[in-house]
Amino acid sequence: MPHPSTVFDSEWLSIREAADHSARSESLTARLADWLVDRDAANLRLCDLGCGSGSNVRYLAPRLPAGQRWCLVDHDAGLLTLAAERCRDLPGVSSVETLEGDLVGSLDTLIPEGAVLITASALLDLVSEQWLSRCVSLAARRGAACLITLSYSGDVSLTPALAEDDAVIQAVNAHQRQDKGGGPALGPDAWSVCASLFREAGFSVFHEPSVWSLDASQAALQDNLLTGWARAAGEWLPDSAPSVSAWLDQRLQRVRRGESRIRVGHQDLLALPPGSGTVGSDA
Ligand SMILES: C[S@@+](CC[C@H](N)C(=O)[O-])C[C@H]1O[C@@H](n2cnc3c(N)ncnc32)[C@H](O)[C@@H]1O
Repeated sequence: MPHPSTVFDSEWLSIREAADHSARSESLTARLADWLVDRDAANLRLCDLGCGSGSNVRYLAPRLPAGQRWCLVDHDAGLLTLAAERCRDLPGVSSVETLEGDLVGSLDTLIPEGAVLITASALLDLVSEQWLSRCVSLAARRGAACLITLSYSGDVSLTPALAEDDAVIQAVNAHQRQDKGGGPALGPDAWSVCASLFREAGFSVFHEPSVWSLDASQAALQDNLLTGWARAAGEWLPDSAPSVSAWLDQRLQRVRRGESRIRVGHQDLLALPPGSGTVGSDA
């Protein structure tokens, strides 16, 4: 039975997709595409961990060299079916296979032999340091590049501000660090821990912010986001549930009036394996 915090509905994933795609780092994707051009074009095996309904592949497929053979991994069979349907005919894609399984319990068997890219989007804040170490070791053994995008960094700004904003966001960030099945989750620290582990393993590491800047035209996304945050904060601080609920009412009123702006910090990270002819790393 998956931990409830690791279950996502397809509607939420659809609502966030446009914001995700416009926030992502074009330059890291281009750097990855250049690296992949030098691989064996007949063996372009790519693996998307926690693929959901396939948003990451929809972003990457037209931007990476053609001949892509994707393996999509998730523990949610319904999302995997959607992902396969929606990614099969994308430009650049030669084949799509799906693998249903738990990334915590069976990471090694879920990443196909010969994968040259391991990628994930909006996944990292759910994982533990122990899991990340296993993932980095596996990528090093396989000589695979890793592109880990849209990792929540914990930096949020809400406009217009309310007095309770900081307390709610702090509770959300604390809630994120709960154990989701594989040890305490890294939450907002995950991307920087990930960068350190890849550097220690000799990878060249590059990262860039991928910030959501949500305005009145993204009312549905704002509404879902605030509602999810209020749920998490209420679970984390049950004694404060009534004030969190009042906070949510006020925030949603501002969304409905078209006054609300939300910035949510994320980071994209590219790690290229040692010996791949790449020099340099971001600090
Ligand atoms: C926030 S969603 C992101 C989905 C997709 N990558 C995207 O960017 O839209 C996280 C995904 O990871 C999957 N997931 C979370 N924990 C998992 C685990 N332990 N094993 C397999 N899949 C997992 C969820 O089912 C969900 O599809």
